Amino acid sequence: MSAPATWKSKYVIEPRDARTQSAGVEPGYAQTEWRWPSQPLQRRPHTLSELTGPQDVLKRLAPVRGDLAGQGAKRAIGQLIHLRTQVVDEDGAPVAGAAVEIWHANAAGKYTHRNDSHDAPLDPNFYGAARMTADADGRIELRTIKPGAYPTGGAERWWRPPHVHFSVWGRVWLSRLVTQMFFPGEPLNDSDGVLNAIRDPQARVRCIARLLPQTEGPENALVYEYRLVVRGSRATPALP
Ligand SMILES: [Fe+2]
Repeated sequence: MSAPATWKSKYVIEPRDARTQSAGVEPGYAQTEWRWPSQPLQRRPHTLSELTGPQDVLKRLAPVRGDLAGQGAKRAIGQLIHLRTQVVDEDGAPVAGAAVEIWHANAAGKYTHRNDSHDAPLDPNFYGAARMTADADGRIELRTIKPGAYPTGGAERWWRPPHVHFSVWGRVWLSRLVTQMFFPGEPLNDSDGVLNAIRDPQARVRCIARLLPQTEGPENALVYEYRLVVRGSRATPALP
């Protein structure tokens, strides 16, 4: 028996235009060869059992840290910012309850990770990773510091611009978007291999946050607004 029309319209997802997505492996950035699939992507439609079965993603992904900047003597070094993110679907409807994981480098462009060989200092007051749950409007707000740029280490000597990594989980394990957010007006955006692996300029723009008026938010922080579209033809591009 075929699925009812209403069920189909809700769950059948239109394929994305390849130009709005990352080209994947970028010459000059060796890491993309390790991180990007070498075989064509295969669609894994959600089955009825996944859509109606136990949806315990949030139970296994407990929220941690809504504040990476710290306070007082434990305050991380760097420009204090607030990231106001909204998770929406292709119709602009909020994705309430989405689990959003965020991680980024410290103000010197260094990750708190043993594989980061960049010759820059760690900040003892900056851990660099958070996980939050979107509210009824699909919104989360993270207090943190602006990340620094870092070199990719390849022979071509190009640098990653300041950016923030995002991973968004939907209600089931097959629903996940991994991407990166960029800051407006950064000169390194124009030469970044990851951002420019998206061939469609409008899709690249969707990866760049918007700086809100300086009267917004707390007096000591700049506020950036970022919209994550999890599916549809205007979906936020997936980035490694
Ligand atoms: Fe990064």
